[in-house]
Amino acid sequence: MKKLKVGVVGCGSIAGYAHFPSYAKMKDQVEVVACADIVPEKAKAAAEKYGIPHWYDSVEALLAAEPDVDYIDVCTWTAAHAPVTIAAAKAGKHVLCEKPLAASLEQGLAMADAIREAGVTFMLAVCTRYGNEQQKFIELRDQGVFGEIYYAKTAYTRRRGSPGSWFTNKALAGGGPVLDIGVHAIDRTWYLMGRPTPLTVSAETSYRIGKNNAEASFTWGGVDRPDAEIYDVEDSASVFFRFEGGKAMIAEASWTQNMPEEFYSKIFGSKAGCTFEPLTIHGTDENGKLTDIKIEVPGNDFYLDEIKHFVDCLNTGKTPISPMEDALVIQRMLDGIYRSAEAHREVEI
Ligand SMILES: NC(=O)c1ccc[n+]([C@@H]2O[C@H](COP(=O)([O-])OP(=O)(O)OC[C@H]3O[C@@H](n4cnc5c(N)ncnc54)[C@H](O)[C@@H]3O)[C@@H](O)[C@H]2O)c1
Repeated sequence: MKKLKVGVVGCGSIAGYAHFPSYAKMKDQVEVVACADIVPEKAKAAAEKYGIPHWYDSVEALLAAEPDVDYIDVCTWTAAHAPVTIAAAKAGKHVLCEKPLAASLEQGLAMADAIREAGVTFMLAVCTRYGNEQQKFIELRDQGVFGEIYYAKTAYTRRRGSPGSWFTNKALAGGGPVLDIGVHAIDRTWYLMGRPTPLTVSAETSYRIGKNNAEASFTWGGVDRPDAEIYDVEDSASVFFRFEGGKAMIAEASWTQNMPEEFYSKIFGSKAGCTFEPLTIHGTDENGKLTDIKIEVPGNDFYLDEIKHFVDCLNTGKTPISPMEDALVIQRMLDGIYRSAEAHREVEI
């Protein structure tokens, strides 16, 4: 297996929390040859902390100086996913990109064009697809344990949990909790359902609490930006998706609401349903008696396993579990949420 060379672009929270530590555990498979951040001190600090030989202040500088890089790992704020991905693809580099795909559907489509034209591999880092329970569910689902999956409910809601910083600035984030954490709930649940084709969405968003109560949110995003006080994104969203085949999903996302937090996916099948943590199959036995069977699944570091999966795909030519094709469907669904909420009616996806 070839040892791959990666350049990490964006040296903030998620790079430090998940990407650099994962690469430190994968030294026999991947070498971080360079990192970059538009705040040069952040790139320099990451290079010093993780023993990365070179650091730069832009993806362009990195690509020019490091022609041997195999792939770019995009960990920038969301509005920069598109320009960084497009620059990497144009240089012939594969791309691993943090969720959500982009700050807008238009940006997502431009990224897909660049990836297709370059013929490189793209994977969206949607870590919650890579949990052991989720992968075990897929195995059981594909054996027919759940019958036909026709409905799902999901939520990723916080009572007080805005990350602050650029996350609340629509120009940099594209949206609020819908794009930040709703994407995890909706992406994971849609994937578990078997990726049904979305038809329409009906949604409402609320802007009542967060922006008027800075103290009502807490901040873990970088506070080093002068525009960190801009707050023009939603607090929460309630959503109903229709899919082909008479299937549906209800979803909720929130950073700020007066209700305890939740993060769940509930999958409804014609033979059995499923809930997680712990993975539990809600079915019936041969006598029609109701059963709730818990399956022991060891936990895993899904950030590490996600990155290992991408590296495996590059080495073997396998299609990633979370390819551009899926990322675009999810981006269309997220875009539909905002369009529906603005129009106050159901819209086509
Ligand atoms: N998978 C997860 O669980 C998870 C968790 C947190 C964040 N994220 C995602 O990761 C991304 C980054 O979030 P974060 O919390 O690390 O934010 P952050 O603000 O801590 O870090 C982002 C960094 O990107 C840099 N940057 C911005 N534009 C750039 C550009 N064009 N070139 C180079 N560097 C640039 C910024 O200077 C900053 O240092 C976001 O898209 C976010 O949605 C994912």
